[in-house]
Amino acid sequence: MLLKSVLTSALLALSLGSDLVTASKHGRFAQNARAPQEKAKRAVEEARSHKHVKPEKDYRFLNKKTKPYRVDSLPDVPYDVGEMYSGLVPIDMHNSSRALFFIFQPTINEPVDEITIWLNGGPGCSSMESFLQETGRFIWQPGTFAPLENPYSWVNLTNVLWVDQPVGTGYSIGTPTAVSQEETAQDFVKFFKNFQKIFGIKNFKIYVTGESYAGRYVPYISAAMLDEDDEEYFDLGGALAYDPCIGQFDYVQQEVAVVPLVQQNANLFNFNASFMTELDKKHKSCGYEEYIDKYLTFPPPEVQPPLMFNYSSDAECDLFDLVYKEIFHINPCFDLYEINLMCPLLWDVLAFPTSLDYQAPGATVYFDRPDVKRALHAPKITWNVCSLEPVYVGGNAGPEQEGDISANPIESVLPQVIEATNRVLISNGDFDMVVITNGTLLSIQNMTWNGHLGFQSKPETPIDIKLPDLLYADVFAENYASSFDGPQGVMGVQHYERGLMWAQSYQSGHMQPQYQPRVSYRHLEWLLNRTEEL
Ligand SMILES: *[C@@H]1O[C@H](CO)[C@@H](O)[C@H](O)[C@H]1NC(C)=O
Ligand SMILES: *[C@@H]1O[C@H](CO)[C@@H](O)[C@H](O)[C@H]1NC(C)=O
Ligand SMILES: *[C@@H]1O[C@H](CO)[C@@H](O)[C@H](O)[C@H]1NC(C)=O
Ligand SMILES: *[C@@H]1O[C@H](CO)[C@@H](O)[C@H](O)[C@H]1NC(C)=O
Ligand SMILES: *[C@@H]1O[C@H](CO)[C@@H](O)[C@H](O)[C@H]1NC(C)=O
Ligand SMILES: *[C@@H]1O[C@H](CO)[C@@H](O)[C@H](O)[C@H]1NC(C)=O
Ligand SMILES: *[C@@H]1O[C@H](CO)[C@@H](O)[C@H](O)[C@H]1NC(C)=O
Repeated sequence: MLLKSVLTSALLALSLGSDLVTASKHGRFAQNARAPQEKAKRAVEEARSHKHVKPEKDYRFLNKKTKPYRVDSLPDVPYDVGEMYSGLVPIDMHNSSRALFFIFQPTINEPVDEITIWLNGGPGCSSMESFLQETGRFIWQPGTFAPLENPYSWVNLTNVLWVDQPVGTGYSIGTPTAVSQEETAQDFVKFFKNFQKIFGIKNFKIYVTGESYAGRYVPYISAAMLDEDDEEYFDLGGALAYDPCIGQFDYVQQEVAVVPLVQQNANLFNFNASFMTELDKKHKSCGYEEYIDKYLTFPPPEVQPPLMFNYSSDAECDLFDLVYKEIFHINPCFDLYEINLMCPLLWDVLAFPTSLDYQAPGATVYFDRPDVKRALHAPKITWNVCSLEPVYVGGNAGPEQEGDISANPIESVLPQVIEATNRVLISNGDFDMVVITNGTLLSIQNMTWNGHLGFQSKPETPIDIKLPDLLYADVFAENYASSFDGPQGVMGVQHYERGLMWAQSYQSGHMQPQYQPRVSYRHLEWLLNRTEEL
């Protein structure tokens, strides 16, 4: 270990002419061990002195009705939170027994007449997760000591509304009764109109975004907005979904795609040769290789057959679980959401650092703290990152036996949204095993929109990230290494046809704004029509 770090700093110094050496009275190696702690402490002290920068009278959405929702500060967040609101809004204003919880934060830059809605998946996972660890202005990610200001926050660009939905999720209240996306989309649309009325919002462009199971929420809610045919409240501008359940996800986005994922990332899994051979044999005998060869082509030859994965009768071909059960022997800290994660298992203020729930001894769950609930005007109910009870109550009905009987989005609602807006972005991270990149692409190849089936040509345009690192820039500066964290370079592949943008993200797990915030910042700029290319 020692040898390795000596070598590393020596190599860096050689290749970059080392601002380490020139700026410091210590030698290269010694310098590495010194500066950071003192300076990190100072940075937090400085941050604590930032009191409300913008006077309340300049708040755009503050009025008599919104005042009770105003958030003044957040426990343990040592920064000015700026203009921010949160609380419950009923689905039916005449009956408050069913209500969805939101956080709303207007953009911190030039005002825009837009609302970008963010939804986590699950089903039943709280959007507070994205607020605190992905897209929000203050991020407190697994293993980090305290919340940080997020330079890639989505509120840099637009007004963001994080919502806990459907009923039964996060801080939302009411008893889940839904068995379909159509029902929960109706609830959402009603909530959202009530929200806009309270906040005096009309004629804004609306963008719907989210990840994972929200691959179902986003298109269904967007389609429900289009069906309202009401420009004042539902002027849909576009939609974005990360690592999304848009197709027959258990079969196509998991089983079919998992073995090639393992093969291409063999050194992260570290399976032995005989197990790799077994996986390869099964990938072939289960017909998955043939499926990919036939349908992951551009243009695709024909529509894919209807498929259903039966975990009892198809157990032999459940390669996803075969991999998932073996990998923990090798790497107990393996994370389905981010396959490159190694030990230790990090403490996490949401108690969900990997695909395992884990609450470090003595740690509390941030959103379950009474002081946090008070600050957010949240109900005094137990908050779980993902609800313990189902939020779709159809038992094992539905295409993937989730108790949610709605058709997969690729079959009609997603095409409807693309055709209406011509601005839909579907993206997948390559280090995600829950929803696998090539599985998502396969699902797109089984969708007919704007007159054709699938993409007609193969995605291959690079996504070149020119933005330098902003999050750790101070740390590099304190280490006399400012020149090290420059632009990222090529971080993925983009492809646009007929209103749909596809974005493959390199080195990203499931929660893309968390793992590749610079890339997802570009995605958002595209969604908001600030750029035509990623
Ligand atoms: C409010 O809604 C709940 C749940 O749907 C229902 O049980 C209750 O009767 C309603 N209350 C009123 C006053 O309508
Ligand atoms: C976001 O806004 C802040 C404050 O204006 C700025 O410092 C930061 O560079 C912005 N981030 C990006 C990615 O432009
Ligand atoms: C995904 O599919 C492409 C063909 O479109 C192939 O080149 C690539 O190797 C596949 N990657 C994985 C991880 O399966
Ligand atoms: C190879 O890996 C498999 C799966 O983890 C395990 O069951 C088997 O014992 C291993 N074989 C050898 C020779 O180590
Ligand atoms: C492919 O699309 C067709 C038409 O929408 C649908 O019937 C079929 O179930 C889909 N198959 C898969 C695997 O998604
Ligand atoms: C799955 O297979 C089992 C065993 O063959 C069968 O009893 C069950 O009905 C099947 N489930 C579905 C939803 O088809
Ligand atoms: C997107 O931006 C371009 C110019 O940058 C503008 O011409 C176009 O009308 C915008 N589209 C929408 C839907 O606002």
